[in-house]
Amino acid sequence: MGFLEPTKICKPGVFLLTKAVISDKDMGNLVEPERIVPWMEKIAVYPGFFDPITNGHVDIILRGLRLFDKILVAVLKNPKKEALFSTKDRVAMIQEIFIRQPDIEVKAFDGLLVEFVRRHKAKIVIRGLRAVSDFEYELQMALMNRQLDPEIETLYMMPSVHYSFLNSGVVKEVFSLGGSVTGLVPEIVEKKLREKLKQGRLSVGK
Ligand code: PNS
Repeated sequence: MGFLEPTKICKPGVFLLTKAVISDKDMGNLVEPERIVPWMEKIAVYPGFFDPITNGHVDIILRGLRLFDKILVAVLKNPKKEALFSTKDRVAMIQEIFIRQPDIEVKAFDGLLVEFVRRHKAKIVIRGLRAVSDFEYELQMALMNRQLDPEIETLYMMPSVHYSFLNSGVVKEVFSLGGSVTGLVPEIVEKKLREKLKQGRLSVGK
């Protein structure tokens, strides 16, 4: 009898009743036994720079939760890329947005994404795909990650059409020029942008 043994047990004490897989040589066996196997938590990693998080990102995280038990938001610490918000602030804003959702975790990472994914015993990376213009970059990233670790799969989801034009850069630019970003970013992000503007830290290009 060939059982597919679960190797990663993320939530001890929770079990599933499954049918056993019967191999060819057992075909004579008319009984299809049921067995209890530990429940495996389905985790997906959602990586990004999130400078700052927008409602387009939030949309993808919530869509991800329809497919996975837990979304681990991975915030890139990247000293090479100039950021308006520090890594600590980017992580804190996302944590505050999802404070009542234990199935959404937020962590900063540096180095290779695939290493972060492996370290957290995940196999799936989710990314949003807004338009054809995203495709080339995303294809390159997904294939490079696959080259680095063929066990890790990248899954793309389309955000709501309301956010298909949105990215962190355009939010910062519009806000710095006095435009409204209400409805495009979570309230906490708008508040933090206002603070940056007051401090004179928000200018076009940042
Ligand atoms: O929000 P972004 O800028 O589109 O996110 C890009 C991100 C963080 C997903 C990507 O730059 C990344 O995974 N960086 C980590 C370094 C890495 O693993 N590079 C190899 C894949 S191209």
